Amino acid sequence: MIDIHTHILPGIDDGAADWDYSIKLARAAAAEGITGIIATPHHYDGKYSNEKETVIELTAELNNRLLGLDIPITIQSGQEIRVHSEFLTNWQGGRLLPMGNSSYVLIEMPSSQIPKSMEQIVYELRLIGIRTVIAHPERNAEVVQHPDRLAELIDLGACAQVTTHSLLGGFGRGIEKSAWNLCRRGLIHVVSSDAHHLEWRGFRMKEAYERVEAEMGPVWRRYFEGNAQAIWDGRALTDQPSLTQSASKAGGWGKLKSLFGK
Ligand SMILES: [Fe+2]
Repeated sequence: MIDIHTHILPGIDDGAADWDYSIKLARAAAAEGITGIIATPHHYDGKYSNEKETVIELTAELNNRLLGLDIPITIQSGQEIRVHSEFLTNWQGGRLLPMGNSSYVLIEMPSSQIPKSMEQIVYELRLIGIRTVIAHPERNAEVVQHPDRLAELIDLGACAQVTTHSLLGGFGRGIEKSAWNLCRRGLIHVVSSDAHHLEWRGFRMKEAYERVEAEMGPVWRRYFEGNAQAIWDGRALTDQPSLTQSASKAGGWGKLKSLFGK
């Protein structure tokens, strides 16, 4: 299992506080069956600034420590980059990190709205072969109210990551509803933990995939898992299942399962 959005690097944002905690997170991830993690510390969010050199250095150090401790997880470097006015200039100047060695980049919008510059960023990145991964749109107030605005960004070339805790109700009923609504509308491409710490923002990847399978069917679980692997490998995303294969709790897949007793 691959987790493409985490705050596992020590002492640089509101995730793992120190090396011991990074290792604790890695052990918890391994126990769930996660084998690959992209470390995506906050960058440019007004509070944290984590330059790519620091991220690359800490990622290498964490990989060394995991190897030494026989914890079977590989870390790739990335950043969760807040939309900012110099985004495209910074990208073109080589100052921002993609996710691992791929041509995907993880972008965070503010929680209140979709910034006006978002369309241009997504579009211009796509023109140079870079695909925007929008972090947890289910927690953005404008997307919650108007999912079509997310659909417009996806039409321009973005894809979207939903957080396990959102799907599992960890951010409250409203966000949970929004998360499943976006999934069922085909506006979500990948599931990830956005893990910060184990107390209430751990991984829960296995649990979330099990819920996806129960709610939407195994084809959607395979789709989300396949896309996490594709981002990890730096490949194109897999084809989305037909939306008729997405089932509501009461209908479709759930009904079929009960009819055939599986
Ligand atoms: Fe995050």
